[in-house]
Amino acid sequence: MAYNLLKGKKGLIFGALNDQSIAWKVAEKAHEEGAQLVLTNTPVSIRLGTLNELAKKTNSEVIPADATNIEDLNNLMEKGMESVGGKFDFILHSIGMSPNVRKKKPYDDLNYDFLQKTLDISAISFHKVIQTAKKLDAVNEWGSIVALTYVAAQRTLFEYNDMADAKAMLESIAISFGYIYGRSKRIRINTISQSPTMTTAGSGVKGIDKLMDFSERMSPLGNATADECADFTITLFSDLTKKVTMQNLYHDGGFSSMGMSKRAMIQYEKSFEGKDCD
Ligand SMILES: NC(=O)c1ccc[n+]([C@@H]2O[C@H](COP(=O)([O-])OP(=O)(O)OC[C@H]3O[C@@H](n4cnc5c(N)ncnc54)[C@H](O)[C@@H]3O)[C@@H](O)[C@H]2O)c1
Repeated sequence: MAYNLLKGKKGLIFGALNDQSIAWKVAEKAHEEGAQLVLTNTPVSIRLGTLNELAKKTNSEVIPADATNIEDLNNLMEKGMESVGGKFDFILHSIGMSPNVRKKKPYDDLNYDFLQKTLDISAISFHKVIQTAKKLDAVNEWGSIVALTYVAAQRTLFEYNDMADAKAMLESIAISFGYIYGRSKRIRINTISQSPTMTTAGSGVKGIDKLMDFSERMSPLGNATADECADFTITLFSDLTKKVTMQNLYHDGGFSSMGMSKRAMIQYEKSFEGKDCD
């Protein structure tokens, strides 16, 4: 059900690769809520994924850009504003990639060139997107910028590897730039810390199925899905959250506040065997 929460707003969405991507769900819902969109991804992801389908569905233009490349970002935002006929009201950064994870380099044997790439793609790109937008004055006053993150920035999780460091940096950029952009243009910047989710990036995390099972057991409300993440993201783009800024907002069914749950305990307690519990 749509509420017209984004009626008349213009948005720029990074990171939809295929219909499992969190950014894909956000784009679909933003369109349903009345927003006009520009979609972007790297040329290779556009070729290998299905972004053009989403563009058709949402009546949006696709403009390729590598989010680590300033020239690409300048071109994207200039052309993007032309395409939607004005400045943006919201931007979604839904980008993550670690060559160390991809090449199975463990945290105590990192390749440092790969680490630079992890940080550049997964965190510094957020700074580049915001800085480019600010220099081009590409976002309207009271606009909203959101990036997606994970609780591994606060607590170590087996095999999340150097992505944890990237997420910590990403969350820090939201705070540092949130002050500067808030003060000058009343633009808010937040991160959403999402439950583990079965997407292309998610399935690259070693043992994602077990991680999802663990956090499902630990979370009183269960894992948040990509669709639910999109719903939450829409509220942050809407005018209903104008004074929420510089926050890392957990969207994880309660996982981040839990220590141990009965449903997780049952895995270890023989006395619970065969008994149903919540
Ligand atoms: N899936 C999960 O379990 C989970 C949990 C919490 C947070 N997140 C975060 O959500 C975000 C979206 O990931 P997803 O799970 O939807 O997976 P996804 O694989 O669908 O999306 C990742 C996107 O990053 C894009 N990307 C990679 N390098 C890029 C670059 N240089 N420039 C521009 N785009 C680039 C990819 O093309 C892809 O579209 C990521 O930041 C991820 O870390 C995911």
